[in-house]
Amino acid sequence: MTSFLLPPSQDPIRPAAAAGIRIAVDGRAVDGIAGQTIAGVLLGSGTLAWRTTSKNARPRGVFCGIGVCYDCLVEVNGQRDVRACQRRAADGDAVVTQYDELPAASPAMPATSATPAMPATPAMPSTAATPATSAASAMPTSSGAGDDRA
Ligand code: FES
Repeated sequence: MTSFLLPPSQDPIRPAAAAGIRIAVDGRAVDGIAGQTIAGVLLGSGTLAWRTTSKNARPRGVFCGIGVCYDCLVEVNGQRDVRACQRRAADGDAVVTQYDELPAASPAMPATSATPAMPATPAMPSTAATPATSAASAMPTSSGAGDDRA
């Protein structure tokens, strides 16, 4: 019995004794009760952190507790990246804590001068050559030369 559990005689919701389960966490046997998540079993055993960050190896355990933050990732029965706060523990589960190295730095980016030049923007036609201006200059003159409307 841990300090996190009420004795069955004092628990109004579950007055009967709960079934016990045992999981292995990095080879260490940890006892819990049926229905607990893996995070619940770990917290119940007094383990507050079971993962370290890739950068600076900072300890992580449960942060949100609702499957949003991914701080509680563990490997369960060979499957990686299981959220301990979302996975119900089963008797005999083999849990392995995770630590992932950051990926290697990518090769240096080419210098900006080595990047291909953008194609030149095509020149815009001058305003004198716009269709409206051209049409105005093509209007028939008052001399009537070339006027075939009559
Ligand atoms: S504690 Fe946040 S995802 Fe599990």
